[in-house]
Amino acid sequence: MVTTTAIQPIKVHKSANLRIKELDYNKITFGKLFSDHMFYVDFKDNQWSDAQIIPYGPIPMSPATSALHYGQAIFEGMKAYKNDKGEVFLFRPLDNHKRINISAERMAMATIPQELFMAGLTELVNLDRDWVPDTDGSSLYIRPFIVGTDEFIGVKPSENYRFYIITSPAGKYYNEPVKVLVETNYIRAVEGGVGYVKASGNYGRSLFPAKLAQQRGYHQIIWTDARNHRYLEESGTMNLFVVIDDVLITPPLGDTILAGITRDSVLTLARDWKMKVQERKISIDEVLDAHKNGTLEDAFGTGTAATIAQIAQIGFEGKDYVLPPVEGRIFSNRVAKELDNIRKGKVADVHNWMYKVG
Ligand code: COI
Repeated sequence: MVTTTAIQPIKVHKSANLRIKELDYNKITFGKLFSDHMFYVDFKDNQWSDAQIIPYGPIPMSPATSALHYGQAIFEGMKAYKNDKGEVFLFRPLDNHKRINISAERMAMATIPQELFMAGLTELVNLDRDWVPDTDGSSLYIRPFIVGTDEFIGVKPSENYRFYIITSPAGKYYNEPVKVLVETNYIRAVEGGVGYVKASGNYGRSLFPAKLAQQRGYHQIIWTDARNHRYLEESGTMNLFVVIDDVLITPPLGDTILAGITRDSVLTLARDWKMKVQERKISIDEVLDAHKNGTLEDAFGTGTAATIAQIAQIGFEGKDYVLPPVEGRIFSNRVAKELDNIRKGKVADVHNWMYKVG
């Protein structure tokens, strides 16, 4: 459903009870504390209207709300950063806008116009700019999401939607290099399915296999292809990269792989640095052969929440394969540092990834 909307002023109702004092800039975790305000706008009668910023808080909804039953729920993850001068920047927000509409199309939901997405986002982040931390490794995690809001329990695309944005100061997603288990039973995504979009159900279905892996001492799963369980796809909620013999390799985009914005940024920087890059299928056999002959130099996941999560160990069919120590990894350390420097304004933003707020 492609929608148009005349740009309208956002009504702002400021909180009378600011909670910013609760934020300890030196003890920031991930996803537990939410900033003072949130944005929302409603889609009804084929139009987005009544955009508002209100104090963060519970949302009233009917128990028959369609999203609760049939999963018309999609989201984005993005981040805002503060540089040494106190200026606030979003990282590649227009790409998140494009992607939420790709998700919306696939889930038969209303798409959101770019101007409305950006107006809500920038006004909200500007209002809560004190919540954007500037300590090392921290940022403001931003969660835009759209849900079907019809009060109806027949199965059909909702006619009404609400688009929300909430924000939360974020520290590290993983506190250590991750141990991952190659999953050869459960699947995350299939050809023709919804693995390439940020549909909430993709995450729900991943939790049980991830829980089983965690009970065995792993942090996350490496998902494999649904047909043969031989080709590596994603790592937990992240895109997956390996470096074999100085070549950076990541599975190609398609129905089963999310077009990660961090993934794209990593590929872009690697190409800038004239590194050999391959977007192609990669089998577990190839990775284990490389491990055996000493050419598996690096492996890591990429995502907005974690940025770069280095993989310390890979479990497969009852054996654990320990990767080279993370301190000595050339590519993942370099790219993590460069992304950090770009986001904090310490090096030139040659790709125009940073979008100033306010
Ligand atoms: C992200 O990296 O933004 C993700 O989507 C992970 C998230 C579900 C916490």
